[in-house]
Amino acid sequence: MPANKKMLVLPGDGIGPEVMKQVRRVVDWFDKRRAVHFDIKEGLVGGAAIDKLKTPLPDSVLADALATDAVLFGSVGGPQWDTGDFSMKPERAILGLRKELGLFANLRPAMVYEELADASTLKREVVSGLDILILRELTGGVYFGEPRGVTTLADGTKRGVDTQIYTTPEIERIGRVAFELARKRRNKVTSVEKANVMHTGVLWRETMTRLHGEYKDVELEHMYADNCAMQLVRRPKQFDVIVTDNLFGDMLSDLASMLTGSLGMLPSASLGAPDATGGRRALYEPIHGSAPDIAGKDLANPLAQLLSFAMLLRYSFDLKDDADLIEKAAKNVLKSGLRTADIMQPGATKVSTTQMGEALLKELDRLAA
Ligand code: IPM
Ligand code: MG
Repeated sequence: MPANKKMLVLPGDGIGPEVMKQVRRVVDWFDKRRAVHFDIKEGLVGGAAIDKLKTPLPDSVLADALATDAVLFGSVGGPQWDTGDFSMKPERAILGLRKELGLFANLRPAMVYEELADASTLKREVVSGLDILILRELTGGVYFGEPRGVTTLADGTKRGVDTQIYTTPEIERIGRVAFELARKRRNKVTSVEKANVMHTGVLWRETMTRLHGEYKDVELEHMYADNCAMQLVRRPKQFDVIVTDNLFGDMLSDLASMLTGSLGMLPSASLGAPDATGGRRALYEPIHGSAPDIAGKDLANPLAQLLSFAMLLRYSFDLKDDADLIEKAAKNVLKSGLRTADIMQPGATKVSTTQMGEALLKELDRLAA
């Protein structure tokens, strides 16, 4: 018997717990019906942890995250925890996990499900068939650079500072991931920065160009970040893999996700460097946030969280068939006309979070029969 896989589940705040509940049902289904078994731990993060334990990322949760095979993360944040103190913001939980686990490579696929092509705010012909991957550097840049902070000057005015830093090893390791992912896709990398304005951008461009020498079979193009934002709306299908820094990646991935019609559909994976045994630290989370306005109402779309679990099976455990099965079930449920409120279309059947979870389980039963 192969050893059980270790998974740490961190539902977080807002809609996190209710979408995670549906995913737990799918995990149970896998436990019963497939060859894959999990030892699952759950933990408190974000606002939920602040309320109970006075910190967004308890030490015990961090220790569990360092000891597990893969983390399945929900979402954190909400207006009740919006304070000026950064160390007490729920967002510290996810930023701390990314940094402490060394999760430098953030894969954010944006693909259009044919059934949802009309849910995009862009014309069907612009987005139909879209399948791009934003690869965001996740542990460097202005999110973590020092110095940072707000100081009061002698005349009583204030000064805010954030620092953008990138070193060649940081750019090279994310660049390698980009080229390697492109080889498994359509062989094109667009490297995005602001080399016309920023020193980090100049270094980014130089480093990517040099690294390209090792990946001559892949096409490399450079693009300024502002132009990339424009091109993503104008002609998104020109892209395959977009590799960029932490801040540009944050913004461009929100933009790209909306091309697809619903933020509620998109998963992401954050990966560390491979270790000696070939494994790597990893965390999987939906792209959407905690959506406090609809939390607790059984309205949220559980598919992004579910597809994040599929990515976990694929990237952490190499369980391609199981991941395919979940993705197929999700597609079929959409094909059958079921929609949560965020992706509702004329003529479709509106369902709750729980009903969507149930439909998925039924479809998994049917596919596995
Ligand atoms: C994201 C989010 C986070 C980020 C927040 C919640 C800190 O927007 O994962 O894209 O800015 O990275
Ligand atoms: Mg973001």
